[in-house]
Amino acid sequence: MWVENMNYDNRNVANEVTMVKNTKNQSIPEKFKKIIGNVLQTSYPKRQGATSEVQFFHAEQGNYVCKCSSLPKYRSWLLKEAKVMQELNAKTALSIPTYLDFEEDENNSYLLMSMEPGIPLREALIVAKTVEEKKNLIHSFGTKLRTVHETDPPLKWKQQACWLDMQLKRAAYNLNNYEVDGNQQLLEKLILNKPETIPQTLIHGDCTIDNVLVTDNQVHTFIDLSETAFGDPRYDIALAIRSFLFDKELLDAFYTGYRLQQITNEEFNYFDGGLYEFF
Ligand SMILES: Nc1ncnc2c1ncn2[C@@H]1O[C@H](COP(=O)(O)OP(=O)(O)OP(=O)(O)O)[C@@H](O)[C@H]1O
Ligand SMILES: [Mg+2]
Repeated sequence: MWVENMNYDNRNVANEVTMVKNTKNQSIPEKFKKIIGNVLQTSYPKRQGATSEVQFFHAEQGNYVCKCSSLPKYRSWLLKEAKVMQELNAKTALSIPTYLDFEEDENNSYLLMSMEPGIPLREALIVAKTVEEKKNLIHSFGTKLRTVHETDPPLKWKQQACWLDMQLKRAAYNLNNYEVDGNQQLLEKLILNKPETIPQTLIHGDCTIDNVLVTDNQVHTFIDLSETAFGDPRYDIALAIRSFLFDKELLDAFYTGYRLQQITNEEFNYFDGGLYEFF
């Protein structure tokens, strides 16, 4: 089982987005420029994601995020994210960015959305000075994840086939078509050892500490929504706890906030060390 090493205390992070001089200044669609208006400043997240390049535009009328992907696999994920955001903006009260536009050209896909305040939980945990502060952050993560799992998803999402079966099919496709960490042997093991089904809920689908934003010492906003679906909530729990799995105090804080259920080590390994290896 692979567990992420947080190294909370060894990194020096500022509590703000920074100008990164060597990030290439990705051009954006003309239509986005019209929506954004007069740009006062452009900046970048401290940590770019693996699948896209993100730019922040601070404009006269507000702050915007342009997320751009170039590889075919990631372009299809960005389109999915755009669709998910539109649906969730329209049908739920979840704290997520507001979808503004999606454009494609020959080489890239672009998603324009509102820039939400806050810093990723990973950074907030590094900045937090005391165990109590960290526990408070993780407790709020659990509480916020509960709101996702208790939110009624759009009706047509509920009518889709079993999420885990679909994910296993996608895992096989990814294994045959893309570079993934998982291998054939692991996939066969996952197919043979499917955990007993439990009721599906709305899930974030990539619920790591990089994909939630913290304001006022509380997890407030979910970002990076391309995998959001009606699915197995144990997948979200596994990805949420992967970076503090062996820290009992933080794990307890998470579950005290989350309250709905706990996952077993076996389930953790199935979802985090297993299924996640194919995405
Ligand atoms: N709407 C937003 N408001 C504020 N910050 C954002 C927003 N969207 C993205 N960010 C910032 O940009 C970073 C990368 O965004 P995101 O996680 O969506 O990209 P990604 O390439 O899909 O990442 P991953 O590696 O998880 O696939 C985030 O960690 C966050 O700092
Ligand atoms: Mg991300």
